[in-house]
Amino acid sequence: MNDSKNSITLPDHIAIIMDGNGRWAKKRGLPRSAGHRQGANAIQNLAIECDKLGLKYLTVYAFSTENWTRPQKEIDSLMSLIREFLEDTEKKFEKQNIRIRTIGRLDRLESDIVEGIKRTVKNNAQKTGLTFTMAIDYGSRDEIIHAVKQIIKNGIKEEDINEELFNSYLYTHDLPYPDLIIRPSGEQRLSNFLLWQASYSELWYSNILWPDFRIKHMIEAIKVYNKRERRFGGIK
Ligand code: FPP
Repeated sequence: MNDSKNSITLPDHIAIIMDGNGRWAKKRGLPRSAGHRQGANAIQNLAIECDKLGLKYLTVYAFSTENWTRPQKEIDSLMSLIREFLEDTEKKFEKQNIRIRTIGRLDRLESDIVEGIKRTVKNNAQKTGLTFTMAIDYGSRDEIIHAVKQIIKNGIKEEDINEELFNSYLYTHDLPYPDLIIRPSGEQRLSNFLLWQASYSELWYSNILWPDFRIKHMIEAIKVYNKRERRFGGIK
């Protein structure tokens, strides 16, 4: 889709590794939880802006399978934010055309968070604008192992296993592969995020810390993406 105001062609699906909350807080002498809170505000506002822009899919890494190794206090503050986000988002996105869904395991989350996820997904299921996916207790390796187990459980025959079938067993089965993956904060790695799905994604890194990330940074990333030549392993 072409957005003449900014002269950009939007990719279909952008995924973000929201990194740098802790450093943002440390720079200000604040607790890490304050960085996460600002990070949650940043994604809430960005999702609204992305919907306005006409983006179809936005996926964000909110809590990884490895984040359980953080101190309990930090895990608690992240879970409280996710809880609050699910409550607030319903109000804040009430007038938006945003469809919310999540990817990741549900079996290790507190039951009220699981309920919050189910309620939010259901209440926004009819929306037709941006599909906003939050990865919560998500890890790509875990997702792949989960898919393999389901394939075995369903007795799928070896000759029927191909990329399309395997993809249909991933949490992201109803999402297109991400065209562009954004990671702020200066780190340049995928950290167990969408490994299968990212095979031909374009990557964009920036030194900005996640709580400072705004739609203008995303537009900057899209402009760079627009200049990339995507060959998907072929030649042009
Ligand atoms: C990485 O920053 C960020 C996370 C582990 C969590 C991301 C969570 C949020 C933005 C808030 C909650 C999200 C939602 C959708 C409610 P870091 O803590 O590793 O930062 P650092 O590398 O600077 O320490």
